Formats: sequence, C-alpha cells, structure tokens
Amino acid sequence: MTARILLTGGAGYIGSHTYLALVEAGYEVVILDSFANAAHDVPDRLAQITGQPVSLFEVDVRDQSCLEQLFSAQNFDAVVHFAALKSVGDSCADPLGYMDCNLGGLIALMQAMAGNGIWNLVFSSSAAVYGAAKQLPIPEATPRSAANPYGYTKLVGEQILTQAAEAEPRWRHGVLRYFNPVGAHPSGLIGEDPNGVPANLMPYIADVARGKRDRVQVFGNDYDTPDGTGVRDYIHVMDLARGHVLSLNALLQQGQSHTVNLGTGRGYSVLEMVQAYAAACGHDIPYDIAPRRAGDPAASYADVTKAREALGFEAELDLDDMCASSWNWVSRGP
Ligand code: NAD
Ligand code: WQD
Repeated sequence: MTARILLTGGAGYIGSHTYLALVEAGYEVVILDSFANAAHDVPDRLAQITGQPVSLFEVDVRDQSCLEQLFSAQNFDAVVHFAALKSVGDSCADPLGYMDCNLGGLIALMQAMAGNGIWNLVFSSSAAVYGAAKQLPIPEATPRSAANPYGYTKLVGEQILTQAAEAEPRWRHGVLRYFNPVGAHPSGLIGEDPNGVPANLMPYIADVARGKRDRVQVFGNDYDTPDGTGVRDYIHVMDLARGHVLSLNALLQQGQSHTVNLGTGRGYSVLEMVQAYAAACGHDIPYDIAPRRAGDPAASYADVTKAREALGFEAELDLDDMCASSWNWVSRGP
C-alpha cells in the first residue's frame, strides 16, 4: 500500500524539492504551507514537473483546529516537517516570533499527530545545533549549543522530539541536520528565491551573477583556513531531498529513529564558491573582501559516517552540479 505523507512547508525551497523526490519514490504527498515564505506559483510548477495535480492546504501549522480537521479527514502514515522560519538575522531581531513559529508549530503538529495515532516524524534540523563546534568534521555526538535564537529553536525542537519519545515509545523520528543546502531542480522550474537581500552566500553570488547586485562581499579573509575565507559543507538540494526519502523509508520500513547529518563531508571556501559559480555562469563574479560577520565559525563540515551507516545516504552531486543547477534556475528569472 502506498504510504501517505504530510509535508509541512512543502512549498518552500527544500520542501518543494523533497516533494518531487517523494512523489518519484512512490509516496502520496499532501502539502501544508502558509506561504509565509513561498511563492504561490510553486504548486503549479510542481504539477508541471510531475504531471499530477498537487494536493495542498494553505494553513498555518500552528492552527490546531485546522490540523485536527486535516488529520481526521486524511490517513497520514508520516509527517515531514519543514515549516519554520529560517533567518538567523531575523531570529535575533524577533526571538519570540521565532520561538512561536518554530516551537509552537512543532508542538501543535505533534499534538495533532498524537491525537490521531500518527507517530512517524521527519524533522528539519540544522548544523546550527552545533554552535561553534570545535571538532572537524562534525559528528552527531558533538555537544549541542545555540549561537542564536534560530539555532535555539532547532536545538529545543530536537529535545522536544526526544522527550516525547521517552514518554510515548510509539514515536519514531528522523532528525536530519542539514549543512548548507544549495542548487536547484534540473528542470529550472523550482529553486531558492529569497525575499530581499539574500543573507546566505549562494543566493547572493547568484544575484551578482545575474546582475541584480554589484559585488559579493566576502566576510573575512583572515580565518585559519587554506585561503583565509570561511569553509562550509554545501550540499545539493537534490541530494538533501533524497535523504528525506531514505529517512522516511527507515522510519516506515524498519521503525528506526535516527539523528543524522546531511552534508557531503567536505568543505569549500567562499572564494572557491565564487570561482565555481563564475565557471558555471561563464563570466567573472566581482567581489570585495569585507570584515568578518559576527558569530561565523571559520569552518564547518559534516562527519557523514552515520548517515551512510543508518540510512545508506551519500551525497552524489558535486560543486559544479550545485552551481550549474542554481544558474539554470536563476538565469530564467524566477
Ligand atoms: P523556506 O523558507 O524556503 O521553507 C519553509 C516553508 O515553510 C515556506 O514555504 C514557508 O512558507 C513555510 N512556513 C513557514 N512558517 C510556517 C507556518 N507557521 N505554517 C505553515 N508553513 C510555514 O526554508 P527552507 O530553506 O526550505 O527550510 C526548510 C526547513 O529546513 C526549515 O525548517 C529550516 O529551518 C530548515 N533548514 C534550512 C536550512 C537552509 O539553509 N535552507 C539549513 C538547515 C535547516
Ligand atoms: C556561508 C559562508 C559566510 C554571505 C547559515 C545558517 C545555518 C543554516 C545554513 C539554517 C560563511 C560567507 C556569506 C555573504 C560571505 N541555515 N558569506 N558573504 O552561515 O554557514 O549557515 O545557513 O539552518 O543555520 O547560519 O551560511 O550562506 O550565510 O554563509 O562571505 O554575503 O559564506 O561568512 O563563511 P552559514 P551562509
């Protein structure tokens, strides 16, 4: 029998790519999204890619009565929970708003799930739970800490899952700690499209590549890294999406809870990213060296051993694929 999955935040960047991976894997998927940070044409684009209509509920995940109606009307086997706010900077300006959305949303969702006997949950966590990790590559057993309110919502979110499972052993969770997701679907129909000035590196480089902004600001070139600029574990969003299919398979077929890093296991510097993107778009990307950004660690990349052992997950797409797919998306003018 086909398993039926609720995808919260399924119109967003990672959620929309995961929708496609789940449909391709044979899952029946229903999207719940408030469109707080998604374009309204994403479901049509998903339908265009799959050739199937998208089942969608425009609902805030904190809306308990809507969740109750949805869960009692539909027989879900599992939930993949992406819906959350994700800007580190905004979370520092509005910590309460972030706690309300990210933690209030998670609790409302889990209560509705428990009330309807649904115990399988895949949770979008983040390398943000490692704070300023001292050990590289970063294994899952690294002590967790939060460097900002956004990271705190992910850390407490993980603790909520653990404590719920201690009280009710039927809970099964897949906690997926993403490193730096980048890239886009090969169709060029969906991808990352942030509002306003991008806070993250890759969408900023993409804006410079397409002439929307003048120059990339490289935040620091005096770190203890090979070229002095910050090093991160960039992972293609298509690989990340596949990781969610494997996580769901482990929950639904083996009943195995797991907490794993999703990264490639290798880091690239800011300057390597700029150069790789220039090769993908076919022209130079101008940049300036700017001061360090407060709170940034010099380097962060995943220990991927556990993802391989627990899920059989290994990233397959390389930096050229990440940049080429991003350019294919942004050069069409999302
Ligand atoms: P995104 O903003 O593109 O997607 C989030 C989606 O959730 C959006 O479609 C938004 O409209 C929706 N949403 C937000 N609040 C909601 C609410 N209260 N009710 C219903 N829908 C709501 O972000 P993304 O990059 O796709 O991130 C998805 C998840 O992965 C988030 O939980 C994020 O914290 C986590 N994550 C992202 C990154 C990253 O760098 N992109 C890294 C680690 C973890
Ligand atoms: C990458 C590198 C910057 C912008 C963030 C969140 C993390 C997670 C992923 C959600 C760093 C440098 C950046 C620019 C630059 N999100 N940079 N110029 O900070 O590793 O992680 O996104 O869970 O929680 O903190 O990603 O893309 O912002 O930065 O030089 O204009 O690029 O200093 O070295 P980060 P990022």
